Amino acid sequence: MKTINLQLLISGMALLAAFTGCKSSTEEPRVSVIPKPVNIEYSGKELEFDDGVKVVSSDTALDLAAKRLYDRMKELPQAEFLTESKKASVTVRLKLDERIGQAEGYQLKIGRDVTISGKDRAGVLHGIESLLQIIHQAPVTEDGFEIPRLTMTDYPRFGYRGMHLDVSRHFFPPEFIKKYIDLIAMHKMNTFHWHLTDDQGWRIEIKKYPKLTEVGAWRVDHENLPWGERPDRAEGDSAAYGGFYTQDQIREIVAYAAEREITVIPEIEMPGHSAAAIAAYPEYSCSGAQTTVPSGGHTGTNILCAGKDETFTFLEDVLTEVMALFPSKYIHIGGDEAWKKEWENCPLCQKRIQDKGLKDEHELQSYFIRRIDKFLTSKDRILIGWDEILEGGLAENATVMSWRGEAGGIKAAQMGHDVIMTPVDYCYFDYYQSEEKEMEPPAFNGYISLDKVYAYEPVPEELTAEESKHILGAQGNVWTEYMAAEAVVEYRVLPRMTALSEVLWSPKEGRDRNDFMKRLEPFLNQLTTRNYNFFIPAPQGAFKEMIFLDSTHVRLESPWPFATIRYTLDRTEPVVQSHAYEKPFPVGDQTVLKTALFLENGQHGPVKTVHYRKVLPIPPYETDPGELKPGLSYKYYEVSVSSVGAIKKFTPKRTGVTNRIGLPEGHRREVFAAEFIGYLKVPETAVYSFRLTSDDGSQFQLGESLVVDHDGPHGSSAAHGQIGLQKGYYPIYIGYFDGGGGNSLKLEVKRGNDGWQEIPAGYFFHKLKR
Ligand code: ACM
Ligand code: ZN
Repeated sequence: MKTINLQLLISGMALLAAFTGCKSSTEEPRVSVIPKPVNIEYSGKELEFDDGVKVVSSDTALDLAAKRLYDRMKELPQAEFLTESKKASVTVRLKLDERIGQAEGYQLKIGRDVTISGKDRAGVLHGIESLLQIIHQAPVTEDGFEIPRLTMTDYPRFGYRGMHLDVSRHFFPPEFIKKYIDLIAMHKMNTFHWHLTDDQGWRIEIKKYPKLTEVGAWRVDHENLPWGERPDRAEGDSAAYGGFYTQDQIREIVAYAAEREITVIPEIEMPGHSAAAIAAYPEYSCSGAQTTVPSGGHTGTNILCAGKDETFTFLEDVLTEVMALFPSKYIHIGGDEAWKKEWENCPLCQKRIQDKGLKDEHELQSYFIRRIDKFLTSKDRILIGWDEILEGGLAENATVMSWRGEAGGIKAAQMGHDVIMTPVDYCYFDYYQSEEKEMEPPAFNGYISLDKVYAYEPVPEELTAEESKHILGAQGNVWTEYMAAEAVVEYRVLPRMTALSEVLWSPKEGRDRNDFMKRLEPFLNQLTTRNYNFFIPAPQGAFKEMIFLDSTHVRLESPWPFATIRYTLDRTEPVVQSHAYEKPFPVGDQTVLKTALFLENGQHGPVKTVHYRKVLPIPPYETDPGELKPGLSYKYYEVSVSSVGAIKKFTPKRTGVTNRIGLPEGHRREVFAAEFIGYLKVPETAVYSFRLTSDDGSQFQLGESLVVDHDGPHGSSAAHGQIGLQKGYYPIYIGYFDGGGGNSLKLEVKRGNDGWQEIPAGYFFHKLKR
């Protein structure tokens, strides 16, 4: 094989490095593993593979792992040199070793042979994943391949490293659930949170209550769901949509996960999010009225009656069958978003409140969860609930899953309860991955970038060291309202899950975004080998419309440093052979650029089309600066509107002058509006870009031009616009409304190629009223 040449080359490079004062190549990491291992020591040489492998397990508990390692090696690009062979040149030994300190820890030694020693079976499996990553990235020749000799010492930072999947909003067959579990294992995560029931479908067979799946697993829905389309928006299709897992299928999946040392936590939602159960057994709702399984969006009746003892008998029966299927010590009972209107009007619920001396419906929910907690505790299981279970008093033995930010998790940890962090701003992998939503299949409004996930720290600063011990770890949540297809689920979770795996596994001190980026490409290649779909961003630095005054340059940036920006100027789609963008280049007066980000293997992200257009700057407003006073006029409204245009019809609650564009001071918590009116001083003739971030709608008008239109109800997101302006003063108008939920408002500006900044106070003016 070509080892000699390669080694000559490497020692040649080391020599060169010594002369030029560069870092010696042996100091650089020579393998790339995600999540980043705790420690790697290289021993200089390589181990060659050219004639098959022999895998030997020292313990029968590892026999299956050995068999799986052979199977996995068959998938690799190096497969022909990894065939099972008794007289192989390389032996891989799998061992259990009590002396390894940490649960799930392992040591991987690559020397003349390979040894993987695990504290436990999980440790050995994690070691196998590292070895497979190392082999996958080794260049292969016709004679074989080689990997660096090293000793890797590795163990996880957190004990709970999870991924969730909602199979109610869309049903996914058992084969896909197994593929998802494989993905969890590849990331050295250890928990699969299976969201089995919700309003839009009950997905687990319960023998004692057959209607849960005969009725509750099926809804009237759109039949043929294309990529990402939201089925509950479809009309006129009467096909039934749904599915469920038989108990046999569930046993098989739980066993499949256990073989990979992954715990499956089932979630049975209660008391809310239960419309599918209620459609099957209306007697457990407050009214008892017959309903149907809703196909999406907001539902009618979806809360179980807390006043009827039969409800609890039903739930205990269900949970008894669930516990027989799932050995997990944790059982998730939901508890989120229980809309309690029906409890307020139900005589039985009200009687329960009276009989038990409860204060209100929150305490009734707390009574509900406590009763289930007692039941689960009596069966030696631990209840997990979403953070709403804190309201009205937390059940004694409950573990809290904090999703509405981290406050619930902090409170629970301070009370001495265990916590799993899944805050919506970092861990919701159903959100978009980029600001350019039109380049992704439809999702929820907000976006959570890969960098943001990578920067997430699961232990809040507010906690003492003792309280921090209650943070068991974190989890990515995958709600599937907008994910009809398996490929979309993969696209949404990857590679954000890859970033989260490192947050949860690797030491906090070593976390380094640039280093992660270097290791990401080989990891993505492995995902491709295993047939997973993933998100690739679009090149940044240009909007879809780019205007300029005299001349301009195409300037592009790659969000992924390892990827290549390719482009065309002839309106054809970029391909692997297209020009690679290296540095800014000038454009003609009318240029159409098509660009995409390419990986080394030819895979690429969405194609972005950018129109460059030469314009004349619009003339400023003719005014005598003497008439202008500092600051903008603003009007604050306490009204409910769903478009900026509607604000004007109302009378403001307050008016005044302000130096900044943002949420008006003293605004009420939700449902309000504001307008900002005045003049903007433009310091010099140029093209200006504006970015308006708001929740909900907003508009930015300058003179006659609607520069940014971000109107309509939506979550926090940004919209952009560009305009050519001359030095001088321009009349401006910003309208904004909040329709409920969160709120935000920010206007930023960018001149030419400068960075974004908020407009400084000295640039706003208003005219005194005549
Ligand atoms: C949730 O997102 N409702 C837990
Ligand atoms: Zn009731």
